[in-house]
Amino acid sequence: MARAESRYVCQSCGAVHPKWAGKCDECGAWNTLVEEASRPSAPKGLGGKGGRPLAFVGLQGDASAVARRASAIAEFDRVCGGGLVPGSALLIGGDPGIGKSTLILQAMAALATGKNGQQLDCAYVSGEESLDQVRLRARRLGVVDSPVRLAAATSIRDIAASLDRPDAPQIVAIDSIQTMYLDNLDSAPGTVSQVRAAAQELIRLAKMRGFTLLLVGHVTKEGMIAGPRVLEHMVDTVLYFEGERGHQFRILRAVKNRFGPTDEIGVFEMTDAGLAEVSNPSALFLGDRQREVAGSAVFAGIEGTRPMLVEIQALVAPSALGTPRRAVVGWDGNRLAMVLAVLEARCGVAIGANDIYLNVAGGLRIGEPAADLAVAAALISALVHEPVPADMVVFGEIGLSGEVRPVSQAEARLKEAEKLGFASALMPPRRGRSKERPTSANAFRTREIAHLRLLFNLFENAPQPLRRAGAAGGRV
Ligand code: TYD
Ligand code: MG
Repeated sequence: MARAESRYVCQSCGAVHPKWAGKCDECGAWNTLVEEASRPSAPKGLGGKGGRPLAFVGLQGDASAVARRASAIAEFDRVCGGGLVPGSALLIGGDPGIGKSTLILQAMAALATGKNGQQLDCAYVSGEESLDQVRLRARRLGVVDSPVRLAAATSIRDIAASLDRPDAPQIVAIDSIQTMYLDNLDSAPGTVSQVRAAAQELIRLAKMRGFTLLLVGHVTKEGMIAGPRVLEHMVDTVLYFEGERGHQFRILRAVKNRFGPTDEIGVFEMTDAGLAEVSNPSALFLGDRQREVAGSAVFAGIEGTRPMLVEIQALVAPSALGTPRRAVVGWDGNRLAMVLAVLEARCGVAIGANDIYLNVAGGLRIGEPAADLAVAAALISALVHEPVPADMVVFGEIGLSGEVRPVSQAEARLKEAEKLGFASALMPPRRGRSKERPTSANAFRTREIAHLRLLFNLFENAPQPLRRAGAAGGRV
């Protein structure tokens, strides 16, 4: 057997180094190398001996549609792609205290009671909390009567012994993977090697016994699922549970799903009795909006398949600093820099010397470029101290020459806006369609603009040259 030697494993990217160093060469992270005993090296090259040749088949053939186990918590099921798939592994990541354990327990209770018509055998293994703590939580959530099997354990050997049998549960939740350990590894629980090995063993069991595995994973300061990125590659589905601590909204987001769409989100509200589903997120995100305030625009966005209206707020203030401040919450800072540059270069707006703060209200994170125009509208509104019309939604992507580009699913965005009582939309031109929307009772108006300059016609206070320049090419 090979001599046991130490090796140093980066806890951020999983790279292995022979010597300790302050910085990982691979990912550039500092202070992430941890000593671990190296495993005896694997035998080199098999030389084609002993294996059984594979029987290759064609792509055509019977492929049974995956049976799904829905929990009847609609927001959760949608993000999973319609329900949990037997034999698959799902990882839920999120900051501490965001509500992962609460979500898992509620979903397990719903699956076990058969809210969806089919009672499932569910087991919840807690490595973080004692049985009493989990029971207390269950009481608070009002799910004490549901037949979930509960255990507090951290040893994978014990857990495997209870799962590797014909009567294994149908759903198994492990809270959290960072607390689990394998006793044949020397490293401490939570290190890359332990997390990886523990997950590997559990996933192997899930595939073999056909149960659905739910893993809870912590998130590091950098926002990655703690320890290994490799964990994300090993599982079939990765969900992130996110939200601002100060807000009660929680958003469950699929970032990888072998059995369903990604980009789908589920919206919850954290209440005294656990997570409540939010089936109309737009109403929630716009709930605290003050109307007729300068520096605010309502963006008609799409999250996954769902239209969602959110308020974008901007504050523009003269800067006392040589390098003005830029602070962005809920949007991409680089994208903001681009919108500012286009405003300066293509529309002649002197905005760059100001401190600029941008906030997506309600704690939502927006990734769509379609928010560009709404951001620009909020910025200009803040700059000229004049509100965007309160009954108007805005969407559209901005190109580098200042053109406003069409975005996907415009109709769905307009419909949502109309449903929530908005009366007009500022948006990119729609090609090949009649300008007039089929008029409904309260005639919804669309204002289609092809260039960012035309945005200024919206504001009375906008500097004259700008307005005239806009009007010259005008289609507003
Ligand atoms: P938890 O599920 O323990 O978070 P995680 O497992 O992600 O660390 O959630 C903890 C927070 O949620 C805690 O701050 C209390 C709050 N909470 C409620 O507001 N209402 C509830 O019914 C429950 C169970 C928790
Ligand atoms: Mg927890």
